[in-house]
Amino acid sequence: MRLSLRFILPLVLALSALAYVSVLVLDQLTTRWFIRDLDGRAQLIADSMQEPMSEMVGQRPAGKVIALFARAIRDERLYAIAFCDANRKVAFKTATFPAELNCVAPAPQADFAGSILRLEAGALYVSYFPVVLGAAPAGQLVIAQDMSFIERRSADSRNYVLALFLVLGIVVSLITVLVAHLSWRGWIAGVRSFLRGEGLVRPFDSSAAAAGTGMAAQPAAEIRPLVGDMRALLREVTEDRNAAEDVTAQWNPDALRRLLRERFYGDQILVVSNREPYIHTRSDTGIKVRRPAGGLVTAVEPVMRAVSGTWIAHGSGSADRETVDEHAHVQVPPDHPAYTLRRIWLTPEEEQGYYYGFANEGMWPLCHIAHVRPVFRRADWEQYVAVNQRFADAVVAEARTPDPVVLVQDYHFALLPRMVRDALPRATIIAFWHIPWPNQESFGICPWREELLDGMLGSTILGFHTAQHCKNFLETVDRYLEARIEHESATVSLGGKLTRVESYPISVDWPEERPDTALSAEQAAAKLRSDLGFNASHLIGLGVDRLDYTKGIVERLEAIETMLEKHPELGDRFTFIQIAAPTRSALGEYQSFEERVRATAARINARFAAAGNDPIRLLVETLDYSAIFEHYRACNVCVVTSLHDGMNLVAKEFVSARDDEQGALVLSQFAGASRELHEALIVNPYDIEQTAEAIYRALTMPAAEQRERMRALRSSVKDFNIYRWAGRMLLDAAGLRQRERVSDRIVSHRRRFMRSQAPG
Ligand code: G6P
Repeated sequence: MRLSLRFILPLVLALSALAYVSVLVLDQLTTRWFIRDLDGRAQLIADSMQEPMSEMVGQRPAGKVIALFARAIRDERLYAIAFCDANRKVAFKTATFPAELNCVAPAPQADFAGSILRLEAGALYVSYFPVVLGAAPAGQLVIAQDMSFIERRSADSRNYVLALFLVLGIVVSLITVLVAHLSWRGWIAGVRSFLRGEGLVRPFDSSAAAAGTGMAAQPAAEIRPLVGDMRALLREVTEDRNAAEDVTAQWNPDALRRLLRERFYGDQILVVSNREPYIHTRSDTGIKVRRPAGGLVTAVEPVMRAVSGTWIAHGSGSADRETVDEHAHVQVPPDHPAYTLRRIWLTPEEEQGYYYGFANEGMWPLCHIAHVRPVFRRADWEQYVAVNQRFADAVVAEARTPDPVVLVQDYHFALLPRMVRDALPRATIIAFWHIPWPNQESFGICPWREELLDGMLGSTILGFHTAQHCKNFLETVDRYLEARIEHESATVSLGGKLTRVESYPISVDWPEERPDTALSAEQAAAKLRSDLGFNASHLIGLGVDRLDYTKGIVERLEAIETMLEKHPELGDRFTFIQIAAPTRSALGEYQSFEERVRATAARINARFAAAGNDPIRLLVETLDYSAIFEHYRACNVCVVTSLHDGMNLVAKEFVSARDDEQGALVLSQFAGASRELHEALIVNPYDIEQTAEAIYRALTMPAAEQRERMRALRSSVKDFNIYRWAGRMLLDAAGLRQRERVSDRIVSHRRRFMRSQAPG
């Protein structure tokens, strides 16, 4: 609808302006034509009266002259007529001759022979003609013609023109709407692929071209301005579409709290995730608290701070037990408590089977296309079922009412929604899958696929990051379960209960959580360079990831190697800092991945050591958010090259940290974030040449282009922040909850009615 208005509104305005100008021109033209006509008629009348008048002038038979005049003005357009004698006195006149007229001819109208006399009753066109007797002038004939018919005809033609433009406007609008709607989807798809560089491939250089690689991230110079415009347009369209789905334009903590108050009447919020938001660990200097790495906690924590409630998670820290009360509760954040963390204790066997085994050796590689083979063991599955049940029991124990709002996070808890639904049928359960959902064939290799799907469909709302993941999920349900899918309303009905399956792209806090000690971007850039012993113009690239095989870290380092081969002048001017937080290190796959990353970095550093600078600085450690934040602000380019990723919040965190509107983002096309961050340099991380060229392009990008892109990226992350993510899911849940309450009421009315009709 908005789309149609966008086309039609300018069209209507343009047509109205055109109609207005046309009416003005037409008015002038018709008046001119009609006055010429009046001149001709006056001349004709004067000519036909010349003879009788010259005869009568000498005799002055008043009766005859008056009768002649009276006959003449029977013509309805001839209003009055008079004869002025040689002394310029009115000698004969019709009764209609106005007192305002006399025998002195006023100055004629420009371009015309006569002149216009405006009276209260209307306008007259007055012409004066000499009457001659023999050769001598005897007086003059005054002919006044009624001009009202000109106005009538002008009004008629004006109406015709307006009607014509109206019809034209309606026809053109209808055609425009039709064509726009028919072509819009295809056009958007075309623009998206265009912006991704598909179809606009330019060879990186002759060797790259020879190798068959394309430079997808860099369209030809001559069409770059067009790409910029199209990006802006595409962003506008995306924003409009998304904004149309929201009732609150500005999402922030207050808006979220208001929504909970108004639509959920302050119902309790419970979050369930495997990873806890605050981990207490014992160290030589006492108990420390740290925030774990990973997108889930980054995203959900600000939401919990805004809405309070209870977060149920695995207590995995070495000092976690010492810091809770007798109900395993601790108030967090430790410095400004805003909500309750309820810790669940797992035995080493439970953790091994449920977390390392089923979740991380089975589900994680199953859902990510990173070419690591999933492993499914029955013993792991049994632990997965048992631990899901333990967390579900904790939800029931923590619930203060029969209808709390339960936010279930990620692939560790696919079974939990059904378990909670069985115990609390009136709960609102929102499950969010933070990782991709594969196609139905890939998912089909899981021996417990039906159980997992059934478990997930215990939710009221089931969220994924992208529409593609939703589509994959619905196709999987269609293939393996007896459920009814309504594509129109994006719902699945299983056993009479509805689940809405929708995409809710996750995001970060905005205004971003800024460390108290935050330096300006300029200061951060200077400090990092001086800490590392670089000069002020040294170029810095940055990668921030968990040390996970899905993140494309090896491919990224290889791209940097290729870039240095092609641009040796960067050898002593560029350093890439890779912050890699250790993760799931008990698993063999992760250990060998870490070895590969370390070996690749060492090999590249050895190769380019001659330039006197280690081009790769690999930091395998979990840094504080404040340290990561300073790196985001200090670098020239942030590189995200996931081989497959649900969203990837590093990309959005980087953008939110750059309030100086500088720095460039290189982003994998296989990260969900690439669906929103159109102004990043989008790459295929498997294409090493292309990624190398994109990093080089980012490092040499003019400041003005960096600003233009960063500004657009920031406005998109700002508007589509984490509060909108949570708000939209809650809004949809409120809608479904309402729908279910109404249908429950209808069913119970019907039952009561049937009972009252039953005999006896
Ligand atoms: C991903 C997952 C999260 C997980 C995080 C960190 O973002 O989607 O569920 O918490 O990685 O992984 P970890 O295994 O350390 O919790």
